[in-house]
Amino acid sequence: MGFRNGLMATGLALLLAGGAMAQADEARAKKIVNGVCFLCHGAEGESSSEIFPRLAGQHWEYVAKQLDNFKSGKRKSTAMADMAAKLTPDEMVSLGRYFEKQSVATEPAKDAALAAVGNYIYQNGNKFSGVAACAGCHGVAALGTNNLPRLAGQFAAYIETQLKQFNQRERTNDNAVMHSVASKMTLLEMAAVAEYLSGK
Ligand code: HEC
Ligand code: HEC
Repeated sequence: MGFRNGLMATGLALLLAGGAMAQADEARAKKIVNGVCFLCHGAEGESSSEIFPRLAGQHWEYVAKQLDNFKSGKRKSTAMADMAAKLTPDEMVSLGRYFEKQSVATEPAKDAALAAVGNYIYQNGNKFSGVAACAGCHGVAALGTNNLPRLAGQFAAYIETQLKQFNQRERTNDNAVMHSVASKMTLLEMAAVAEYLSGK
């Protein structure tokens, strides 16, 4: 085998090893999900109830960061502190990658009139009270970015609770930006935006 072929063979072996590692990571993530997370978040991140956030389609970086913050106590949560306590950083990433791959099956918003108000606020903000347009950060389609959560298709009840928690600073990790947004919102605006996003 010449030098060049040897190099190619090494490259191929590395590539195959990489593929096998990704498969092992996915298998590990699936095992953890089917072992415990599914109870609340569903086996594919669809979630078993409106009080638990959907994780399907969520960005892996954001998921891994939240898990790390639950583990360190930066984001306080009675439900999630124990869940994250045993996870390693690698598992947090694998879990994030697993959930990001899952697709979200959304239903149309239940209250179309409320959702229409939410659509306006989401895209434009409220210039009379200084609420920033959500679209400016979370994106026009609410798909988020690597570090900004996807909001499209999330349950209305969860979104509303998070907005209230950001406002009260009960969501303890990185709440500065969202506190300044949520503190200017009325309860009607929170409910409207949440209704809109749930059907997106
Ligand atoms: C007993 C129910 C329950 C179980 C089991 C559970 N979670 Fe959670 N999870 C929650 C709740 C409730 C929240 C919302 C945070 C809060 O209100 O405390 C949450 C939030 C999260 C979030 C943040 C979502 C966001 O949009 O910010 C991630 C990520 C997460 N869970 C991942 C997991 C993983 C991974 C597992 C399995 C290791 C798991 N959860 C098991 C109840 C649960
Ligand atoms: C200046 C940028 C910015 C704007 C504008 C903004 N957000 Fe956020 N939002 C963030 C960041 C950053 C986070 C993530 C915080 C973290 O990493 O824990 C976030 C998180 C959230 C979450 C938590 C999602 C989850 O899965 O737990 C919700 C809900 C949310 N934003 C709703 C809104 C709504 C509704 C608006 C408009 C009224 C809005 N945001 C405007 C930056 C922004």
